Amino acid sequence: MQQTAIQEITAADTLDALQLVKTKYVGKSGLVTKELGTLGKLPPEERKTRGAEINVIRAAIQAALDEKEATLKRAALDAKLQSEAIDVTLPGLGLPSGGLHPISRVYDDLIAIFTRMGYEVAEGPEVEEEHYNFEALNIPWYHPARELQDTFWLEDGRLLRTHTSNMQIRYMVEHDPDLKMVSRGKVYRYEATDATHEAMFHQLEGLVVGDGISMADLKGTIAEMARGLYGAGAKVRFQPSYYPFVEPGADFAIYWNNPRGESKWLELGGCGMVHPNVFKAVDDLREQAGKPRLYEGKTGFAFGLGPERIAMLKYGIPDIRYFYANDPRVMGQFRGELG
Ligand code: PHE
Repeated sequence: MQQTAIQEITAADTLDALQLVKTKYVGKSGLVTKELGTLGKLPPEERKTRGAEINVIRAAIQAALDEKEATLKRAALDAKLQSEAIDVTLPGLGLPSGGLHPISRVYDDLIAIFTRMGYEVAEGPEVEEEHYNFEALNIPWYHPARELQDTFWLEDGRLLRTHTSNMQIRYMVEHDPDLKMVSRGKVYRYEATDATHEAMFHQLEGLVVGDGISMADLKGTIAEMARGLYGAGAKVRFQPSYYPFVEPGADFAIYWNNPRGESKWLELGGCGMVHPNVFKAVDDLREQAGKPRLYEGKTGFAFGLGPERIAMLKYGIPDIRYFYANDPRVMGQFRGELG
């Protein structure tokens, strides 16, 4: 019995397993305890020697149990210390980081292209006065774009700008010609939303004013932007169009060789030569502000485009509403690198 007990003690590799062995042999109804219980039935002489024998065996088993218990406890403590130890040679954990929104990335690309061409960057208000959004841009009161279904009007008579063209006016009032300016920002239109329409979206406005500025300069600038965005092979297409604040006016598209094989003409925005009425409206505002009338007789071009359209194609985003829904499955793809 001693031998089997010692074998079982040696084999026990956890404190729980050892406890079972302990109960089996030296517990209240353990095998050794039971043997001791039989002593009473023996004649006195035999009882003495047998009792001594069993006690030796019990002591041996108990000693083995104690030793094993100490060993297992020490091992458990070692493991605990090990698991709590800090390994200073491990590489650190990366901190979770945000990333730039796809629209910001497209803006950054565009702004870089235009600042390389010497443009200043301007920003202006989203809550705007009617005069800067419409009147001064040669958009008369009866123009359909002013109607309630297109414009978000505020109770105080102001509005949420429907385009960034308000910045043409604001910039010319503040700065003397000649100038080259781009302006980024949010614009708002009161219309039904679908995969390509949102009530809020973004625009980049461009304005160049000087002497002898022509449509050829405008086309060259848009072509340069296209090459900056899509490489040397990018093509540009102009189609006649109408905007009250330019004459002649055009819409422009860029042909883009998309890596996913979705190459196509991308209708990007509107442009044209600044209308003389716009220069006149600017000079009127300047005069009211005590500044010299420097714009009438100047020439210039303006353009406006939507970065959403570029981003949708560039990143393969099929629905404009994904940009602003804050769905981590979409925006999570723009984490990390900041470009
Ligand atoms: N403001 C026009 C729009 O929102 C775009 C445009 C800008 C057209 C400048 C011509 C010149 O559609």
